[in-house]
Amino acid sequence: MDRHLSQDVRPVFASENVPTMRAPDVSLHRRLLLRGGAGLLGVSALPLAPLLAAAQSGELCVDGQAERTAKQTAGPFHLTGAPFRDDFRVEGMDGKDLTVRGQVVDVACRPVTGAVLDVWQADPTGVYDTRSFQLRGKVQTDADGRYQFLTLKPGSYGSGFVRTPHIHVRVQAEGLLELTTQLYFPDEELNAQDALYRPDLLMSVSKGYAGLSATFNFVMEPA
Ligand SMILES: [Fe+2]
Repeated sequence: MDRHLSQDVRPVFASENVPTMRAPDVSLHRRLLLRGGAGLLGVSALPLAPLLAAAQSGELCVDGQAERTAKQTAGPFHLTGAPFRDDFRVEGMDGKDLTVRGQVVDVACRPVTGAVLDVWQADPTGVYDTRSFQLRGKVQTDADGRYQFLTLKPGSYGSGFVRTPHIHVRVQAEGLLELTTQLYFPDEELNAQDALYRPDLLMSVSKGYAGLSATFNFVMEPA
């Protein structure tokens, strides 16, 4: 099957939101919900190298409100029925280990418990597995709305168009609108050439002893 289908590159929706940058707030609640996750989940206490880039900078919640995460096309490679698991890696497949973690909240900044994140991506060489569930899986948020999964960093792909490395995520939760989007990596040369790339969908990525560590927080709106 041709993995370079053009449906995966459609124009960015001009109406999607762009996060508002505000001065840091000192309240504990807000510090726990800082965008980028460095203050979320205690990541800053880990022996990680300096952040490669401060994506999702600014606050996730301002005056008890959060701007919804921008939606993007699912593209042609989603498969239904991916298994629940927190490690999507494939035995024997070369690549950089990547841990992705963060929090799901609603637009009122309330953590969303039990949200299901359906994740799919290309392998490190830019190929999607469409016959099984390699590098795919579902995870569920805990009581604080937090999620985490382990995977391999995806490669870029495209022929006649450019898809910079990205991870597809569909988030579903009771009472909230389904959110399908794509997450991007900072400092990628191809970001500027990818018509779908959006800076507000950048993960914060750092290098640690166990590979790459990325964070992204999702904001869902009411159904
Ligand atoms: Fe894709």
